[in-house]
Amino acid sequence: MGRRRKKIVENLTVHGIADKGMAVARDEEGMVYFVKDAVPGDVIDLLVLRKKKGFKTGIVEKFRSMSPHRVEAFCKHFELCGGCKWQHLSYENQLKFKQENVVSAISRIGKIDSTLVQPIIGSTTIKYYRNKLEYSFSQKRWLTKAEIDSDQTDLQKPALGFHAPGSFDKVIDIDECHLQDIFSDEIRNWTRNYAIEQNLSYFNIKENHGFFRNLMIRNTTLGEWMVNIIVGEDSQEKIINYCTQLSTEFPQITSIFYTINTKQNDSIYDLKVESFKGPGYIKEQLGELVFQIGPKSFFQTNSLQTAILYNKIVEFADLKGSENVYDLYTGTGSIALYMAKYCRRVVGIETVPEAVIDANKNKELNNIENAEFVVGDVKDILGQRFIQKHGSPDLLVTDPPRAGMHKDVIETLLNLNVPKIIYVSCNPATQARDIQLLAAKYLTEKIQPIDMFPHTSHVESIALLKLKS
Ligand SMILES: C[S@@+](CC[C@H](N)C(=O)[O-])C[C@H]1O[C@@H](n2cnc3c(N)ncnc32)[C@H](O)[C@@H]1O
Repeated sequence: MGRRRKKIVENLTVHGIADKGMAVARDEEGMVYFVKDAVPGDVIDLLVLRKKKGFKTGIVEKFRSMSPHRVEAFCKHFELCGGCKWQHLSYENQLKFKQENVVSAISRIGKIDSTLVQPIIGSTTIKYYRNKLEYSFSQKRWLTKAEIDSDQTDLQKPALGFHAPGSFDKVIDIDECHLQDIFSDEIRNWTRNYAIEQNLSYFNIKENHGFFRNLMIRNTTLGEWMVNIIVGEDSQEKIINYCTQLSTEFPQITSIFYTINTKQNDSIYDLKVESFKGPGYIKEQLGELVFQIGPKSFFQTNSLQTAILYNKIVEFADLKGSENVYDLYTGTGSIALYMAKYCRRVVGIETVPEAVIDANKNKELNNIENAEFVVGDVKDILGQRFIQKHGSPDLLVTDPPRAGMHKDVIETLLNLNVPKIIYVSCNPATQARDIQLLAAKYLTEKIQPIDMFPHTSHVESIALLKLKS
């Protein structure tokens, strides 16, 4: 049987960025290629690895010329880690290509005039911008091919860091990360050394055993720090020893929690999170407001940029003080509370009960009286009965998860005739899809992309929609 010939596509110019660090190129016939390890501006020969309907994926066979937009990657883990995949592209160009992604989604999927997209707002800080990182422990360290081929590599070494892209059981051992304040590095690296000194095991997710499992570190711009150590064994002595040593070594950590997780998956949302030290939350400030954040609560991960995002929402809302506002997918109520002082009344809907408990605590903490929060699925709750109880909204803010809004929610919105909708999204493709569905009744007035996640392909986008007269 003859060997299959390699399919090479020659002389492709890479022109865009996509998810998971993939770059995009297009040939003269319009075929789209997703390419690993290339950046916009590179001219390459591409080896096709997979064909799908409408696109192909591949790797670089040869660089004909390198992009002028390339910069040196700053992190030693860049090649392996899936975290900051675009750090070898200048930040100016990252913004340019994120802007193009929003423009492309809006015109291609949303069928809307792309000139309505405003210039992207870049992140004020492009390193150490995250307020939350979750590390994993694994008995299995991710090995490079060179390590596997080398006789000197200790193949058994465990790892504390991030999962290798696409691998649920293997972890890249991380000793520096530029996403969170370097104090996070100190906590993680100290924990690794502690585990070695105390001879404590790392989790084996395939066989479901081992002590150290996950390490969650959160911080706020007010200088507060939270650590939640998640362990795979119910061993109080080992847990308390670790927490005591951690607390002594780093008195700056304001809240320490531990969680025993012996399940097959890493989610802690159905588990009891025990407090070892501190009040049970950390506090963050956005504008004039203070937010209490518990270990299970969602909070936007780039605090500095969140204030900019929320100010833009307030600007788009252009409230006069008499309005009734709905905030769909409200999380811990942060957008609703941020808007409360500019309107008569605001009501938020959120499906996670713990988040609504936090939303109510935050309401009290900030002495806000004109906000209310309702637990439930927007799809089931938003309707005529809800309107009868809470009054017709003058403005509706919606901030759904990446998948966008359920088609029943769109249907409801098309019947409610709310004069103004502000659609906040972290996925321009689903936002554009939903805007297109709303176009029967709504005109899009403007769209504002905001970068919350430097060195990744993700981008936030706010759309202002007005009811057609
Ligand atoms: C992108 S977050 C936005 C949170 C909040 N607006 C903020 O700025 O922090 C989406 C929120 O929607 C909630 N959610 C997801 N699906 C939902 C649904 N079907 N109904 C209500 N809330 C939902 C999630 O729990 C999450 O808090």
